[in-house]
Amino acid sequence: MKTDIKHYPVLHREIVEFFRGLRGKYIVDATVGGGGHSYLLLKNYPEKVVIGIDKDEFAIEKAKEILKEFGDRFIPVKSSFKDIDRVLDDLGIEKVSGFLFDLGVSMFQLKTDRGFSFQRNDFLDMRMDTSQELTAYDVVNKYPEYMLEEIIRKYGEERFSKRIARAIVSERKKKPIETTGELENIIFRAYPKRTRYGRIHPATRTFQAIRIEVNRELEELEISLKKAIDRLDRGGKMAVISFHSLEDRITKKIIKEYEKLKKLKNLTKKPIVPTEEEIKENPPSRSAKLRLAERL
Ligand SMILES: C[S@@+](CC[C@H](N)C(=O)[O-])C[C@H]1O[C@@H](n2cnc3c(N)ncnc32)[C@H](O)[C@@H]1O
Repeated sequence: MKTDIKHYPVLHREIVEFFRGLRGKYIVDATVGGGGHSYLLLKNYPEKVVIGIDKDEFAIEKAKEILKEFGDRFIPVKSSFKDIDRVLDDLGIEKVSGFLFDLGVSMFQLKTDRGFSFQRNDFLDMRMDTSQELTAYDVVNKYPEYMLEEIIRKYGEERFSKRIARAIVSERKKKPIETTGELENIIFRAYPKRTRYGRIHPATRTFQAIRIEVNRELEELEISLKKAIDRLDRGGKMAVISFHSLEDRITKKIIKEYEKLKKLKNLTKKPIVPTEEEIKENPPSRSAKLRLAERL
């Protein structure tokens, strides 16, 4: 495998191998992010053109910079992947031979001042697409308590969702909750004392839940997987990397649905997970699950 980058994207070997020998010209990287996977695909498959989509304009700018050596073999598009059909129509492309989804938030987004991480103190924003209106500030300060509780429980799989939602509502009555630091502190104190210093920080799951709500991550995934399957050429391949059990469940359900319709062959009865070696090199890859399918 040809590589010369320092930070490897998640399950990079598996992704490069999976797309080997594909017929056709186009691969869609539906979550181009920092361009890591696209880089490896362009480098290893010189006959391919990669269409790199991201709803985050900063990610698109970064990817353009990193992938500029590939000239017009890389086509950047700022869009949500839920509009994948419109993106391909606008490019005049009917069918493609590959789709890659590497879901969730990027390292780049976590490290900037956009409110994704409680490791920094920033305004509660969390929008991947900065042109949308809804921010984490709105969710935290304006959603009714029962909705906050439901989001934190469902998207965060957080056992203390009730206590956290109650604490948020009680604090915001005093003054709006504006920063990641304030929210982290409220969640920390909402946790029962004996559970505050566990393996993961008490704010982890709630931050994840609010991010999923702000960016409509699960709704958009379901819509776009279906659209992607329709635009895959016969023999075309689709790879989905997820980091959340609900994302993986949606992916599995849709692959099964299309398998019954005889439109897809499921290539992973059980999802592929990173090796011990990869987890050691890149700890955030720990929760990744990869599902693969082929268009019939
Ligand atoms: C885990 S990162 C991808 C990293 C990338 N594979 C790499 O190698 O650098 C996920 C990216 O998907 C983007 N994203 C998430 N949901 C999206 C959606 N609905 N439409 C388009 N991009 C989305 C995020 O903005 C983020 O940049």
